[in-house]
Amino acid sequence: MPTAESAEPFVPERRSLPSLRAAAAGCKGCRLWAGATQTVFGEGTAAAEVILVGEQPGDREDVEGAPFVGPAGRELDRGLEAAGIDRRRVYVTNAVKHFKFEPRGKRRIHQKPNWSELAACRPWLDAEIELVRPKVIVCLGATAAQSLLGRSFRVTRQRGEAIAGEPLAEWIVATIHPSAILRQRDDDARHAERDAFADDLRAVARLL
Ligand code: URA
Ligand code: SF4
Repeated sequence: MPTAESAEPFVPERRSLPSLRAAAAGCKGCRLWAGATQTVFGEGTAAAEVILVGEQPGDREDVEGAPFVGPAGRELDRGLEAAGIDRRRVYVTNAVKHFKFEPRGKRRIHQKPNWSELAACRPWLDAEIELVRPKVIVCLGATAAQSLLGRSFRVTRQRGEAIAGEPLAEWIVATIHPSAILRQRDDDARHAERDAFADDLRAVARLL
């Protein structure tokens, strides 16, 4: 029987955010490391009360080596600001730490990570959560939500709701992925999606 791919053998015994980050830089726990520029590990303070979990780094993040620094990151920053949550006081990461894409000419088109890639990368996310011990985990989009809350979880049905999160955190809240705001076809739809995203983040702020 083939053994499942996993980051587990790369996760160090002695753990701190810097030691995890250094080890993750050399992770080959699944095939995604091969095509990407670098591991994009989580960023933020170990004292954070909130961990925000996205899907995977995008094109910009892959180049810069930091999570949510591209267009989706700007939408995330807007939402956090509207909710009165200081980005310097949260920890931001992704369910999968390498950019998965398909080359199309000069462009690199985002591809959704599959379940085995999510499972392979999960030890990093678990280690981050264990070290930070946040009060609230915010799942940004269906990938993070289904990874942490189960495959039958539907963001559309339970967005903004505080869900009991033990043993990971006191609460887990799921909302849309901020890139969904960018995909809206007109200004009205974009504003509505942006407002709804900020509302979900306000619900997070009330839990703190
Ligand atoms: N989308 C994500 O899910 N994460 C990032 O870091 C950037 C875009
Ligand atoms: Fe390791 Fe995750 Fe990158 Fe796969 S995606 S190589 S498990 S860090």
